[in-house]
Amino acid sequence: MLSSNTIPRRERLIFALDVPDAGSARQLVTQLGETVNFYKIGLELFMAGGYFELLDWLVAQQKKVFVDLKFFDIPATVQAAVRQLSQRGATFCTVHGNQAIMEAAAQAKGGLKILAVTVLTSLDRGDLDDLGFHCDVEQLVLSRARRALEAGCDGVVSSGMEAARLRAFIDHRLLVVTPGIRPVDNRPDDDQKRTVTVEQAFRNGADYIVVGRPIRSAPDPHAAAEEIQRSIATIFPK
Ligand code: C5P
Repeated sequence: MLSSNTIPRRERLIFALDVPDAGSARQLVTQLGETVNFYKIGLELFMAGGYFELLDWLVAQQKKVFVDLKFFDIPATVQAAVRQLSQRGATFCTVHGNQAIMEAAAQAKGGLKILAVTVLTSLDRGDLDDLGFHCDVEQLVLSRARRALEAGCDGVVSSGMEAARLRAFIDHRLLVVTPGIRPVDNRPDDDQKRTVTVEQAFRNGADYIVVGRPIRSAPDPHAAAEEIQRSIATIFPK
């Protein structure tokens, strides 16, 4: 199920820079050095201030940036937000919404790639029931992914468990970005419910993995990231 999309292999690891301020973010990026070339910056940093300066700083250092702010609003507003962001040199952004929202976003994307959020990896069957979605998680992920591609989006954020079905049933161009990666079994207090290992995610067809706590909370984040890069190098020959 390995993806056939051509991606430099050291860009397949996206580190989720979930830290409370831009200063700690820069420190961590400097500490990780060459081991990480792709960073996801999300809501926590956005609320902390200095978000766009951090984005520009990352881009100036030849790092790729994934802006994970999960835009969700009326189509015209999401489109305007995507148009603004498309000028800044980021590689990915996330949009969470229906067909009209995704189409509007795709029309304004320029060189930015749009990832649609299918079903948050912190949700399981019971949570979907609570939200009123009385359907299978996998079916929901597949239908949302198919429609995202039709709308002109580039890929989806999807758990490693659903990646195999996406690879099997959706056009190979679809980029599959997989968070919820855990090197070992989940701790009982972990909020990620549909987790896989690095190897399982790629063997299931992921193009990229998003890893946060397993690197950030490791005794040596640099070594933890390098370990993941080594395992990616054994999966993808080049
Ligand atoms: O720390 P952990 O490895 O669980 O981090 C996963 C990252 O991926 C977090 O930044 C989280 O917001 C993000 N994410 C996710 N599930 C999605 C989309 C994004 O876990 N569906």
